[in-house]
Amino acid sequence: MTKTVAILAGDGIGPEIVTEAVKVLKTLQVSFGLDVQLEEGLIGGAAIDVTGVPLPPETLNLGKRADAILLGAVGGPKWEPLERDIRPERGLLAIRAELGLFANLRPALLFPELANASTLKPEVVAGLDILIVRELTGGIYFGKPRGIRILDNGQREGFNTLVYNEAEIERIARVAFDSAEKRNKKVCSVDKANVLESTELWREVVTRVAKDYPSVSLSHMYVDNAAMQLVRNPKQFDVIVTTNMFGDILSDLASQLTGSIGMLPSASLDANNKGMYEPIHGSAPDIAGQNCANPLATILSVAMMLRYSLGQMELADQVESAVQQVLKDGLRTPDIKSDDNKQTLVSTQEMGDAVVAVLRAKL
Ligand code: IPM
Ligand code: MG
Repeated sequence: MTKTVAILAGDGIGPEIVTEAVKVLKTLQVSFGLDVQLEEGLIGGAAIDVTGVPLPPETLNLGKRADAILLGAVGGPKWEPLERDIRPERGLLAIRAELGLFANLRPALLFPELANASTLKPEVVAGLDILIVRELTGGIYFGKPRGIRILDNGQREGFNTLVYNEAEIERIARVAFDSAEKRNKKVCSVDKANVLESTELWREVVTRVAKDYPSVSLSHMYVDNAAMQLVRNPKQFDVIVTTNMFGDILSDLASQLTGSIGMLPSASLDANNKGMYEPIHGSAPDIAGQNCANPLATILSVAMMLRYSLGQMELADQVESAVQQVLKDGLRTPDIKSDDNKQTLVSTQEMGDAVVAVLRAKL
């Protein structure tokens, strides 16, 4: 049966990188028999400009109808002066919440070809393969009360609430343990249980869930230590499970282990593996429109879509190996280029074309 894929390009470099990922999807459609129909929608600043809101009802409906969603990035200086509730980022948070996409999988995998692109020593990062499982629809991102209020003395006070209930913790823990069973069978749960009650409960529930997974070993780490350990010895980790905000921060950190934030894809899944797929990076307004952004995180997000939502394991492998091949061939966007005359500097578009060419050559 034909599956519907919603395409939400968003803002900044979003449209450029999504164009390349769509080229890959269309190649699979035309040449590899992938039975999908692509439908475009507006989100973020692009949606605000046209409709006044960051997540118009049509886009939400498209998201609900679709079997999977491909998203670029949202946000930019143009929309920063707007009221908080209608800023681009709210559109992204709203679609995550409305679709129940609570499980955010962020693999940090180092392609051997990029060992020199990381700012860390190659021996520290070589062979790196971590999966960060970030809770995505709860925690301080969504907790209430929240806001900015005026105190009696006239000063303003900003406040947010970090809240997790047992069911929310249990379901994300299960995603982490299920993933670990298929990998190296280690879960490290990252919290701040020495200070925050909400993550004291987090630790307790994760420990309880672990009993259902006897083949997986569980460790716990405070988030400050985890940040340090990720830089000191990242290969000690297999699966990291953590809260919404800690996962946001640690996944940016982990991206630098792999050479560039332009390399990290993500999948945000609901309880039935319906998903939204997006690079972990933002809209990079400083380089938007210059045809120099790295489209590989978005193309690798397509691979995750094929694997998790479209049931196309083989095509997912093909896309990932095509990405590896273009890196082997020495193609580099500026973010992953090092001083090596065997490398060729390429544009966003040239990188996408190269991935498509490798895929076609396999026919
Ligand atoms: C991410 C981004 C988003 C987040 C922003 C754009 C709201 O940083 O997906 O990591 O904080 O979740
Ligand atoms: Mg982030």
